[in-house]
Amino acid sequence: MFLVSTRQMLIDAQKNNYAVPAFNIHNLETIQTVIDAANEMKSPVILAATPGTVKFAGSEYLKEIIRIGAKLSNVPVAFHLDHHEKFDEIKASIDLGCKSVMIDASKHSFNDNIKLVREVVDYAHRYDVTVEAELGKLVGQEDDLIVREGASELTDPAMAREFVQKTGIDSLAVAIGTAHGLYKSEPKLDYDRLSEIRKVVDVPLVLHGASGVPKQSVKKCIELGICKVNIATELKIPYANAIKEYFIENPDANDPRKYFIPAKEAMKKIVIDKILMCQSNNRG
Ligand code: 13P
Repeated sequence: MFLVSTRQMLIDAQKNNYAVPAFNIHNLETIQTVIDAANEMKSPVILAATPGTVKFAGSEYLKEIIRIGAKLSNVPVAFHLDHHEKFDEIKASIDLGCKSVMIDASKHSFNDNIKLVREVVDYAHRYDVTVEAELGKLVGQEDDLIVREGASELTDPAMAREFVQKTGIDSLAVAIGTAHGLYKSEPKLDYDRLSEIRKVVDVPLVLHGASGVPKQSVKKCIELGICKVNIATELKIPYANAIKEYFIENPDANDPRKYFIPAKEAMKKIVIDKILMCQSNNRG
């Protein structure tokens, strides 16, 4: 298949009450693992790259590796920029052929958030690129984006409606009580708020910070209208732990073709689990 934009994927998910999982990837091995699991599960899949990942691996490398992965796949695969805050970086990736982006201007005032998002939408839509934006603030850390305890802000439904109308975005990331990174205790999600947002906003809704959220809670969010679920931390941990364990058992090892194998296997199990949680299996 070809690399696709997230537009069609998310519209299908919205129509059929499931969510497309968006997995944060970092290198060749994590990309292969996610695409391999998606093919096995016949699930559409989004591979997401934060600015830190783009800086680490390079936008061109990422796009080309994912493009090859898509070409060898039997399921729809999308490459998506996650939590990008700078218009010029988004523009550079669009110019390279990236078809799905998130502009995260949620740290700005409501009006400045709208202004920056609108600029990105105007540019992106000229190239048929899908745009996600965020209203509200999730506590925690994603890359260099840090929101401290007490500075989080849940999404206001009336503002969400105005935000979507004025920006023309394709999907909206909402803050309903999830956090980036792991939780100290079980998160309390504001389902009523999510239902209210769903009633007044017609674009697909996105749940960030899904690592560590109990499966039943994510499923309930999907029932209430979430169409894209973002997962990063819960993939990184088993990947890193498997490498650590490998070196404990094989202290003299040095061959990446060997120590990446258990890391990929451990990560793949979680990817499969999350696909099942999103009920996106057999939708590809
Ligand atoms: P987690 O690291 O909490 O899974 O969050 C991922 C995310 O929302 C990426 O945008």
